Amino acid sequence: MRYLIILVSSLCLFSCKNEKKSISKMTPKLIAAANFDTIIEGKKVTLYTLKNKSGAQTQITNYGGTVVSLWVQDKEGNYGDMVLGHNTIAEYLNNPKTYFGSLIGRYGNRIAKGKFSINNIEYSLATNNNENHLHGGTKGYDAVVWDAKQMDAQTLELKYLSPDLEEGYPGNLSITVQYQLTDANELKVEYWATTDKTTIVNLTHHSYFNLKGEGNGTINDHLVHINASRFTPVDASLIPTGVLALVKDTPMDFTTTKPLGKDINADYEQLNIGLGYDHNYVLEQNPTGIHLAARVTEPTTGRIMELYTSEPGVQFYSGNFLDGDVTGKSNKPYEYRSAFCLETQHYPDSPNKPQFPTVVLHPKEEYHSVTLYKFSIVK
Ligand code: BGC
Repeated sequence: MRYLIILVSSLCLFSCKNEKKSISKMTPKLIAAANFDTIIEGKKVTLYTLKNKSGAQTQITNYGGTVVSLWVQDKEGNYGDMVLGHNTIAEYLNNPKTYFGSLIGRYGNRIAKGKFSINNIEYSLATNNNENHLHGGTKGYDAVVWDAKQMDAQTLELKYLSPDLEEGYPGNLSITVQYQLTDANELKVEYWATTDKTTIVNLTHHSYFNLKGEGNGTINDHLVHINASRFTPVDASLIPTGVLALVKDTPMDFTTTKPLGKDINADYEQLNIGLGYDHNYVLEQNPTGIHLAARVTEPTTGRIMELYTSEPGVQFYSGNFLDGDVTGKSNKPYEYRSAFCLETQHYPDSPNKPQFPTVVLHPKEEYHSVTLYKFSIVK
């Protein structure tokens, strides 16, 4: 009997210990700010950490206004890092350009042949994407050092003065971007800009998301809804044709939630051109301002990301150019379609498409745009 009690209690000790081990939760693994401490073009670069009341955290460097990590919980209370990125500034500088987590401007997305006119004056921009201009040019806002000020534990303010004719754009553009990690588990990105000459502006943010956690495989199983019944079809160089096409009865349709990968390999011209999804969706707008752009759910972790924006469009990009060449924060290669982007924006090539909402900013006007990435758990 005595031996039996000893045996039972030692078994319990063993299993209780194991149980304790298996319920220990994953906590955020923050990157040391020192990994980003450097001087670039005479300006101090570092890494800032924002934390909300529930414990979500994000780390942002003022190099490119780049979101480096974003830790939120899953349905079991485990934290995971939702965004692709690197552990050191050197890796951001030395890897091929992917725009992981960066701020994008002066014009996010493509401008055909890098040309546009304002008041009959033609401007020529850098052509850094075959014959087209992409994401602000050779050195866009993803590659400049922003002046940063941490306003409080949850807010970082970034400023950049983009000089007249930088990358070919007219006018000195004075930009402020605020990142805020709210207590409602939203990463809020708010943009303001003013100019001293008529110019074009289309700012966005370029995080690559995997709701299982960065480096944790494909995103084909994420469930996606995009609040758009139309998209802007593109030509072979990914420039919109100018038409707003209905998504109904095509693989482009995300009006009803479906797995991201369900139709991605369909033999459909637009998907063949984009090598998957790389398209601007025309959002159903709410006249009062901010509207739902998309909702993405990851079934195994129960994580949901909802995107709200004041912008008329969102570029849905399914990570088609990731190919395992770049290794990320957890030392795992970032494989084909292992992350997606949802870039809120005005439509691509709007400066050359008068039928699209305007991207022209005049002196004395203020550009203002807001996007929220809201994280929650399946109920
Ligand atoms: C574009 C893609 C591009 C990617 C990375 C996305 O915004 O739509 O075509 O490959 O950014 O540059």
